[in-house]
Amino acid sequence: MTRMTVNGEAIHYKLDPQTPLLWALRDASNLTGTKYGCDSQDCGACTVIVDGQAVTSCGVTIRSLEGAAVTTIEGLGGAHPVQQAWLAEQVTMCGYCEPGFIMAIAALLQATPAPGDDQIAALPNICRCGAYPRIRRAIARASRLAAEQKAERTDPKRLTLGSSAEEHNSPQ
Ligand code: FES
Ligand code: FES
Repeated sequence: MTRMTVNGEAIHYKLDPQTPLLWALRDASNLTGTKYGCDSQDCGACTVIVDGQAVTSCGVTIRSLEGAAVTTIEGLGGAHPVQQAWLAEQVTMCGYCEPGFIMAIAALLQATPAPGDDQIAALPNICRCGAYPRIRRAIARASRLAAEQKAERTDPKRLTLGSSAEEHNSPQ
């Protein structure tokens, strides 16, 4: 039995300890947002966040995750800055890379709120549809959004000023 937390919920997996996390999530937890792509840790479609780090879940067994905290795309809740930016920049083409990319970017922004070109280029995720220009715009937008939300949380007065500025600067 392997115990871990998945999207904030305590889970006991009664599976072969060698089971890759990807299949525990998809088959035992029915969290099918995490995608199966290459099965060789090359494409990033299966990326989840484990203890704050982006991890390709096809390449890690549940044996090694005793006590870990796992977050999948379902655990982001839909209103995460990366998800908002993804929609705003209309990144989705076929969408297969999307959950893994979003999780990888969420982990990147958590560690590095304003990543540089090199850090973005170092993301290992692959988009077969070639939506990279949109993905880069989404990363920039998510970074701004996250910074604004953080500022609003720490200084409620900015909420009013920020909202006002947003109205005046809305796209034409
Ligand atoms: S399926 Fe895990 S990296 Fe491709
Ligand atoms: S949108 Fe199709 S693989 Fe990225």
